[in-house]
Amino acid sequence: MTQITKVLVSKDQLQQRVQELGAEISRDYEGKELVLIGILKGGAVFMSDLMREITFPVGVDYMSVSSYGASSTSSGVITIKKDIDMDIRGKHILLVEDLIDTGLTLQHLKELFALREAASVRICTILSKPSRRLVDVPIDYSGIDIPDEFVVGYGLDYAEQYRNLPEVWIIKTGE
Ligand code: PRP
Ligand code: MN
Ligand code: MG
Repeated sequence: MTQITKVLVSKDQLQQRVQELGAEISRDYEGKELVLIGILKGGAVFMSDLMREITFPVGVDYMSVSSYGASSTSSGVITIKKDIDMDIRGKHILLVEDLIDTGLTLQHLKELFALREAASVRICTILSKPSRRLVDVPIDYSGIDIPDEFVVGYGLDYAEQYRNLPEVWIIKTGE
C-alpha cells in the first residue's frame, strides 16, 4: 500500500522560501542577461513560481534528462531526452531543480553548460537532501534541506503521481 502520511514542507514555507530566493537572484543578476533552465519534470512547478519572483526580464527554457537509479555510479553519463531551444552562449545560466539528491544530475548539467560556453552556470533548487550527496556540487541557491525521506508534491513524483500536490509530503511505499 502507498500512502502520503504527513506534510513535511507547507505551502506557506515553500512560498516564503521561493520569494527569498527570487529576491536574492534578482539582486545578484541585476543588469545581466539571465536564462532560467528548468529541469523537467520535477523542476517545472518551482520554476513557474520562481520566475515570477524575479524583478527583470529573463529567458526561460526547459530540458529533460535521464535519471539515475539507486545503483548509480558517479561515472554515469546523462542522456538528454529534451534539450533547450535557446542559444545560451555568453549568457548567464541558472539551472532550476526541485530536488538535489546525489548531485549527479546537476554535476553533469553544469559541465555541459560550461562546454557550451555559458558566461556562468549556477544551480538553484527548492529542496536538498544533503545526507544523500555522492558528489560535492556547489548549490548556489538552496531552498530547504530535508531528511532522507521519500517525498512527493510540489513537482516531485512517485510513479508519476502526486506532482500536483501544493505541499511536500512524506510518502510511505510498500505493502
Ligand atoms: C529527480 C529530481 C532531480 C533528480 C535529482 O528527477 O527531480 O531532477 O532526480 O537526483 P540526483 O541529485 O540524484 O541526480 P527524476 O529523475 O525523478 O525525474 P523527474 O523530475 O521527471 O521526476
Ligand atoms: Mn527531476
Ligand atoms: Mg522523479
